[in-house]
Amino acid sequence: MSIKNNFWIECIECKTTYDPDEIVYKCRKCGDLLEIKYDYSSLRKLIDLEKWKKRQFFVWRYKEILPIKNDSNIVSILEGGTNLYLCKKIQKALNFSSQIFIKNEGENPTGSFKDRGMTVGVSKALELGMKAVICASTGNTSASLAAYAAKAGLKCFVLIPSGKIALGKLAQAIAYGANVIQIKGNFDLALKEVIKISELKPSVYLLNSINPYRIEGQKTLAYEVWEQLDYTIPDCIIVPVGNAGNISAIWKGFIELKNLNLINELPRIIGIQAEGASPIARAFKQNKDEIVPFPNPETLATAIRIGNPVSWKKALRAVKESNGLMETVTDQEILEAQKLIARLEGIFVEPASASSIAGLKKLFEFGEIEKNEKVICVATGHGLKDPDVIIKNYEKPYEVDSFKAIHELFG
Ligand code: F0G
Repeated sequence: MSIKNNFWIECIECKTTYDPDEIVYKCRKCGDLLEIKYDYSSLRKLIDLEKWKKRQFFVWRYKEILPIKNDSNIVSILEGGTNLYLCKKIQKALNFSSQIFIKNEGENPTGSFKDRGMTVGVSKALELGMKAVICASTGNTSASLAAYAAKAGLKCFVLIPSGKIALGKLAQAIAYGANVIQIKGNFDLALKEVIKISELKPSVYLLNSINPYRIEGQKTLAYEVWEQLDYTIPDCIIVPVGNAGNISAIWKGFIELKNLNLINELPRIIGIQAEGASPIARAFKQNKDEIVPFPNPETLATAIRIGNPVSWKKALRAVKESNGLMETVTDQEILEAQKLIARLEGIFVEPASASSIAGLKKLFEFGEIEKNEKVICVATGHGLKDPDVIIKNYEKPYEVDSFKAIHELFG
């Protein structure tokens, strides 16, 4: 049994450090975001690529770089290990001369990338002896937390915006047995509330991406991509952005690969937001160091309908440090991209996920992405989560009143 003690919690701004077992979500000194830091020189000695290659392809293949001290606390439903699809038909449709890949996170156990974060977050909850977990969510986080809490035997509370999350996600949270609390208000309000609750009741562990342990699980996407590209990196990686945890996590993964001397170069990180919920993209375009929240975010991509993203600072740093950028896409562009992916590649993604392909198309047209760049678009969640969008916006099924009418359809 391996017991690790080579990591700690650190503030991204004032660098105050905290014990890894301290229950802390924001820096107590300056209020800023936290991250998990490792002693990379000791990690370098621990990492053995040949050993990784022999393990199953999932999040815990990389357990040396994950902050769980005791393997017996690991709560897993075999998350991660998602396929990387070379999308030749999209390449052709966009007149791209290099390779476009989709990393299909919809293949995770609950159908989104959140499972990567929750396997680590809920394992940490067990390690800390917690009895209950909580999150605010636009849907996927709640579905994922509900599943991992069920597996771990923890009580689970999820706060969601009433009437504003995709039905598949709501059904998941209920099916997995979470206490589902619908609030009158949006995600930003729900997040504020759960932060308050977790501060008042330290025995209720907060598992939104403000919790740096979540980010640790999500960074494994970078490790997987590096392996799937035969131990190389793409030129750029395009990520849908809502609360901005995932883009920060993926960038952390690549930075670590470099710190561990496993890669020499870094990819450009590109974040895509829905136009009606795009405070980070706006700040980036206006060259501002801070965001101005959107009080009433609106987009049909409900997963990323977020006006005051908690990890905006990490996201802005990621795109700036990587020489990347942020862009916005309209709901119409999202729907067109969703259709393109489904009808050319046979991959069904939810609207938020399609924003990465919509963004690629736009940035390619603007000349921000070169024809010959190797690009990965992260498809964050499965299309079946949100059937309403398809039923409302796509072609209607044929309605026939006789078998004769069916035959007539074939001419
Ligand atoms: N794509 C999907 C499908 C999501 O569910 C989310 C976030 C994102 C992208 C954006 O990721 O927040 O890390 O920038 N969904 C959260 C939730 C907010 O509650 O399920 P992010």
